[in-house]
Amino acid sequence: MKNKYYITTPIYYVNDKPHLGHAYTSLVADTVARYKKLFNKDVFFITGTDEHGQKVEEAAKKKNTSPKEFVDKVSKQFVYLTELLKLTNNDFIRTSEDCHKEYVKAVWTKLEKLGDIYLDTYKGWYSITDESFVADNEITTDKKNQKIGPSGDILQWLEEPSYFFRLSKWQDKLLEFYSKNPDFVKPKSRYNEVIKFVEKGLQDLSISRTSFSWGINVPGSSNHIIYVWLDALFNYISVLTKNNKFDNYWPADAHIVGKDILRFHAIFWPAFLLSANLKLPKKVFAHGWWTIDGEKMSKSLGNVIDPVYLVEKYGVDQIRYFLLREIPFGEDGNFSELSLIKRLNSDLTNDLGNLIQSIVFSSIKLDRNLYKDNKVKLATTLNVLVNTIFKINILIQPFLPISAKKVFHQLNVQEFNDFTCIKHEIKVGSKINKPEGVFPRI
Ligand code: ME8
Ligand code: MG
Repeated sequence: MKNKYYITTPIYYVNDKPHLGHAYTSLVADTVARYKKLFNKDVFFITGTDEHGQKVEEAAKKKNTSPKEFVDKVSKQFVYLTELLKLTNNDFIRTSEDCHKEYVKAVWTKLEKLGDIYLDTYKGWYSITDESFVADNEITTDKKNQKIGPSGDILQWLEEPSYFFRLSKWQDKLLEFYSKNPDFVKPKSRYNEVIKFVEKGLQDLSISRTSFSWGINVPGSSNHIIYVWLDALFNYISVLTKNNKFDNYWPADAHIVGKDILRFHAIFWPAFLLSANLKLPKKVFAHGWWTIDGEKMSKSLGNVIDPVYLVEKYGVDQIRYFLLREIPFGEDGNFSELSLIKRLNSDLTNDLGNLIQSIVFSSIKLDRNLYKDNKVKLATTLNVLVNTIFKINILIQPFLPISAKKVFHQLNVQEFNDFTCIKHEIKVGSKINKPEGVFPRI
């Protein structure tokens, strides 16, 4: 029986259409999913959209549409991106789906019964951009004396009745969990960050809002809606119950997220799960940011790059390769179209592409016996080279899936999508197809 492997991307807010940052996380997760499959794992891979909350409600208002109409439209653009990027996700979860809403309500009821939820009043600053309650030591002030949050947005003062989750109660359990699971958060620097934050002391978390209405109703309440992060995080489980796969795949093997949402995934999420008596995920990998001229690419800042434009212009494997290759996973990196073109021409066209072209050309020449001398020696050498390309191509599939298909076609072999095929040997000969220019120069 194959080992199970469950991997997720964040579910993205639908306040605006997707940008390259979203494509990046999804491509990384898809590459890992394909890689694990190649190495014989039974993979479940999920992505989706986060559709409730004040941020989305305000975006809908700005467009003069109802939230429902608005999220249906924007969510479609995220689904389209999964198709364009040829992602291998098994489902696409939307938090507006009934099955998700029912799951979240059931969890709420469970946490309440266990005594981890109580009613009080929230007084403090709130970031709509981050859908996050902001502590005093994270706030700066601008020239107009307005309060600015960690993402650079103007904060809103909240003073409203709110249900709270007893996060403080779980502080010691969380610290114990981190120390027993040193690989829970990657990279290591982020793991240390999380521990430092928890060691400073956790305050109970506000988990309901009353000043707007777009969200899941708190069970039994007429005016509270569930805090969008509590709602969103449980997508990782609701999508499994929706597919009747909870027992097969929970706990998740890896949540791939950006460093902007590490705290939610490495602190709040395990605390909710501990409280609900559910198993904790095995790993949260928090990667860095794509920046434009040094600033984080973000919908809120408006400096975004459209992945649809890039894929249509350069090809999906090309964008995938660039994103995976250009920055060491975990770090930030600056995006420019010029560096993209340079990278593609040097690595894919000059190096890999030319290597494949020359070997395939030589094999065809040999096969038509266009070479006069040393034919036996040449045949042996080319045989080794063709087989080397063949084996590289098996391993390259998770990283360049579309191009790898073309190379298999060129070598006139069927697809090999299991790493054990690496033992297979192919013969140089009449069967090799004419080179097609897998990586054309830009
Ligand atoms: O935070 N560089 O959604 P979101 C790299 N709905 N990755 C980036 C990026 C950038 N400049 N910008 C965004 C949310 N991302 C919540 C998540 S999960 C239960 C709920 C990627 O639309 C990165 O993965 O703001 C980041 O964490 C995510 O998109 C945030 O997407
Ligand atoms: Mg964001």
